[in-house]
Amino acid sequence: MAEPTPPIFERTVPRVLMCAPTYFEVSYVINPWMTGHVHDTTSERSQRQWDALRETIARHADVVVQPPTEGLPDMTFAANAGLVFGNCFVPSRFRYAQRQGEEAHDKAFFVQHGFDIVELPEDVFFEGAGDALFDRGTGRRLWMGHGHRSDLAAAAELAKRLDIEVFPLKLADPRFYHLDTCFCPLADGYTLYFPAAFDAASLALIERHVPPGLRITVQEHDAVEFACNAVNLGRVVILNRASPGLRSRLEAAGFMLIEVALDEYMKSGGAAKCLTLRLDESASS
Ligand code: ARG
Repeated sequence: MAEPTPPIFERTVPRVLMCAPTYFEVSYVINPWMTGHVHDTTSERSQRQWDALRETIARHADVVVQPPTEGLPDMTFAANAGLVFGNCFVPSRFRYAQRQGEEAHDKAFFVQHGFDIVELPEDVFFEGAGDALFDRGTGRRLWMGHGHRSDLAAAAELAKRLDIEVFPLKLADPRFYHLDTCFCPLADGYTLYFPAAFDAASLALIERHVPPGLRITVQEHDAVEFACNAVNLGRVVILNRASPGLRSRLEAAGFMLIEVALDEYMKSGGAAKCLTLRLDESASS
């Protein structure tokens, strides 16, 4: 049966979770970006950049702010809390001890907000929406990065538990250790990605499922500026920085780019997308 057309005055606003950066700093090294940056951030600058991101997102979405926890400096990277699908929340199981303390806080937050908790087996590492990204076109196809943080075994577990199709993508470059650092599904099936971050079989899988006209590949100079770590809300794409070439390709595809400087977070290996988690991810989004 055809979906009824919503009245034109009805607007569905995306919902985005962000976790305040009160305790953010680089205090250990668990990815190559953090090397040389321990105690190299300031709370003024990181708060200012996060506020700018929150204000920009709030013009296009409802922002929910999660309270942070002292002693968990990476908790501000909300994407890693877990994976949201409809009313289900799959909590992360972090690979590194430094982040495992976040798990209980995130789970409690989602329980408190009425989500059903769907647990993965205890021995499977999975870093949430940092490594698991729904296709914006179909809404039931999940791309899952593995090889650095999440285990390949998480793919089959997610497929079974959520009744979705999961396409595992093997990450090959340690700088792009989470899928959301090098791959970004956009509206209408467009896909922004850095090909060199994937092994050959994964690249072939992307090319099999994303038609050539919808592939927006980025070059290394954009990839290292976290251009793929973008927040897509409708036709708006919010990211740290894009070269003029990438900007014109995105604009030609009908997207409007907004740059928000997030260099303080790049010292920790994250940028716009890592700092957010979509709360309204569902079979129809
Ligand atoms: N320092 C954090 C880590 O290494 C950064 C996480 C970035 N998050 C993301 N979704 N890519 O875990």
